[in-house]
Amino acid sequence: MSVSQSAVELINHLDRDYLRQALEHDVRTGLTSTPKWLPPKWFYDAAGSDLFSQITRLPEYYPTRRELAILRERAADIAARSGADTLVELGSGTSEKTVLLLDALTAAGTLRTYTPVDVDSVTLGDAARRLTARYPGLAVRAVCADFERHLALLPRTGRRMVAFLGGTIGNLDPVAREVFLKELRTTLRPGDSFLLGADLVKDTGRLVAAYDDADGVTAAFNRNVLHVINRELGSTFEPDAFEHVALYDVQHDWIEMRLRATRAMNVRIADLGLSVSFAAGEEMRTEISAKFRPEGLRKELAAVGFTVSRHYTDPTGDFSLVLAGA
Ligand code: AVJ
Repeated sequence: MSVSQSAVELINHLDRDYLRQALEHDVRTGLTSTPKWLPPKWFYDAAGSDLFSQITRLPEYYPTRRELAILRERAADIAARSGADTLVELGSGTSEKTVLLLDALTAAGTLRTYTPVDVDSVTLGDAARRLTARYPGLAVRAVCADFERHLALLPRTGRRMVAFLGGTIGNLDPVAREVFLKELRTTLRPGDSFLLGADLVKDTGRLVAAYDDADGVTAAFNRNVLHVINRELGSTFEPDAFEHVALYDVQHDWIEMRLRATRAMNVRIADLGLSVSFAAGEEMRTEISAKFRPEGLRKELAAVGFTVSRHYTDPTGDFSLVLAGA
């Protein structure tokens, strides 16, 4: 078997200290705020990524299955409409859903380049090698970058389709979302397209269950952020002293995950020279996961200059994939 090593290229836009400094900044900002909060991006160390992968297989967690079902049904249509020769995937992770798009673009005869974009260079390298072996002739140009900050650095050659799947857009609050969409729009040219996966508003009971599963996998995923901070910043969090909370905020249309201190506690974060105290019952927000209405998505995209050309959903109307033109 010949594996064309030369076709893998990894460009790193994150300098050595980037992630460390971002973590320090986020933890200091979040833990000195009232109420306290932590951004969800720090869930995903090796253990957290593994827990997330377990979440995607839980009976309660429908988004991954629904998005895969839509892609299975519609990838050929998406490929044909996009006419893309370059697939850029933001937050690509293990690139699991990507093969459906790569297969469709290959069948359409247009595919030349795949550019996965992720902050984790190890995951990125693994995915790049795997896909290079699977698609001979495909140029994999992996980019290690933070999609909230480095969109302007993405390669601009070819007719591109930028995919942002999984509903990760829901982690951004409305302001961050607008900034992100605006920035993305300005990097695209006529003929380029944007494929966005977004979870839809639905029955509150099902939404909450998806983020508070019976087996406690999501609870472990939520607490994992405290293990990450303990390890990386030398802090003294006792993760088991925090309870997992998932609630649906109907005003904002988002799921909120929180960690609730079961008793009063002081936590020392050695590397930040910081001590924080928690009151008994105090809740700290660890994630928002926004849910959308098709019309709201169209408006948000139109507001920054995208034109929605196709809105795909599954038969239950749980999840949507939006194809928009630049
Ligand atoms: C990876 C951000 C799409 O919001 O559903 C799953 C993360 N959090 N269970 C989501 C998550 C709790 C997930 N995203």
